[in-house]
Amino acid sequence: MTAVITDEKIPNNVNLSGDRRLQRALEAWQPKFLEWWMQMGPEGFQADNIYLRTAISVETDGWAHFDYVKMPDYRWGIFLEPKVEGRTHHFGDFIGQPVWDEVPGEHRNMLRRLIVTQGDTEPASVEQQRLLGQTAPSLYDLRNLFQVNVEEGRHLWAMVYLLHTYFGRDGREEAEELLLRRSGDRDRPRILGAFNEPTSHWLSFFMFTMFTDRDGKYQLSALSESGFDPLGRTCRFMLTEEAHHMFVGETGVQRIVKRACELTKQDPNGDARALGGIDLPTIQKYLNLWYTLSLDLFGGEVSSNAADAFGAGLKGRHKEDRYADHTILDSFHTMDLLEDGKVITKDVPMRTALNEVLRAEYIKDCQRGVDRWNKTIKEEGMSFELVLPSPRFHRQIGMWSNACFTPTGEMISRDEWNARRGEWLPSDADEVYVKSLMHPVVEPGKMANWIAAPQKGINGLPGDFEYVRR
Ligand SMILES: [Fe+2]
Ligand SMILES: [Fe+2]
Repeated sequence: MTAVITDEKIPNNVNLSGDRRLQRALEAWQPKFLEWWMQMGPEGFQADNIYLRTAISVETDGWAHFDYVKMPDYRWGIFLEPKVEGRTHHFGDFIGQPVWDEVPGEHRNMLRRLIVTQGDTEPASVEQQRLLGQTAPSLYDLRNLFQVNVEEGRHLWAMVYLLHTYFGRDGREEAEELLLRRSGDRDRPRILGAFNEPTSHWLSFFMFTMFTDRDGKYQLSALSESGFDPLGRTCRFMLTEEAHHMFVGETGVQRIVKRACELTKQDPNGDARALGGIDLPTIQKYLNLWYTLSLDLFGGEVSSNAADAFGAGLKGRHKEDRYADHTILDSFHTMDLLEDGKVITKDVPMRTALNEVLRAEYIKDCQRGVDRWNKTIKEEGMSFELVLPSPRFHRQIGMWSNACFTPTGEMISRDEWNARRGEWLPSDADEVYVKSLMHPVVEPGKMANWIAAPQKGINGLPGDFEYVRR
């Protein structure tokens, strides 16, 4: 039986009811999506009422509509920012020419790869987080987890809409594949590394939404500049939702940090663990892990793919308008490189350095969040400081992965790295300890011992609101 697709079921601003071809494609895909959601989505909560935000239009009052909903009944909509008439390519080789409303033949494969790579991350994170509901530290956090999950589901819809509408048969095949790969699966893994890592407890979840969702923000921002207009418009709307995911991550870690300080001060030996908390050095290790996994997502430091995507007008820079030169054919970027086992400084053609340029913007943004965590530590009267490690540390993609570096960026031997790894990254024992703290707290307004309460509730509601009704 195929579900009937209506504007009511799938809120949209893409004239779905007037597009028979798209309707048919989605009618075939939607049951498979739901099957995937039931199998790989949040386990154990599909029949519960969750206080969720649903986008029902792109107007300011329409994209954040709050109500109780059962997750399988969530209305995953398709929204693009409204078209701006007369828009032209504003970077790359086609600068000044009208943006494309159809897929440019010569760039079809590159465009499809960009869309599929982005699209693959969306269901992957839902898969990584599917068991977390069972150990949520509060109803507030449980609800936030599900909000992130349904919105990643909607982001998948957004990319599938592009594949179905603009890529014909191979687009439909890619849309099916997006539901067949599985995070962490040996035979059919998700495309990008960080999306195959286990997110087995809430400290990792908050670090993921802080650092890995933030990579998403920068990728979407670069794609929102695209000269393929439907992609640009789709990504601009997705960014409005992504902001909440990073809020969940940043404030989640901030609340753990606050509680770590409180417990450290309470314990006579200054040991937060003795009182069932997560200590600051352990938080630093998880920061090191998720930050570096996320740095990898930007790709190689010198990249011809990045240059090609920019030249073709498909992927720009974060806030492209802020730059003066939008063709960057004659400019260079000064950066550190690893050559013949030595770190050297070199000028590379700017277009090939664009992954690094985007990564640098991302790092600045991460630093702002870490500064806010350190402000909390200071307010608690402690002298500890959380730091972002060097971008050379613990890399698995790009040139830095060819050698070993300390968190401060010094090159060391592989033996030394292996010996000291546990100082810098979560050990098995750390993982066992953090997991041992994870027990569900389901009474409205109550928090697990290892995390402080949020400053305020969702949508102006009080902290003890019943965000999830079982
Ligand atoms: Fe997303
Ligand atoms: Fe996200």
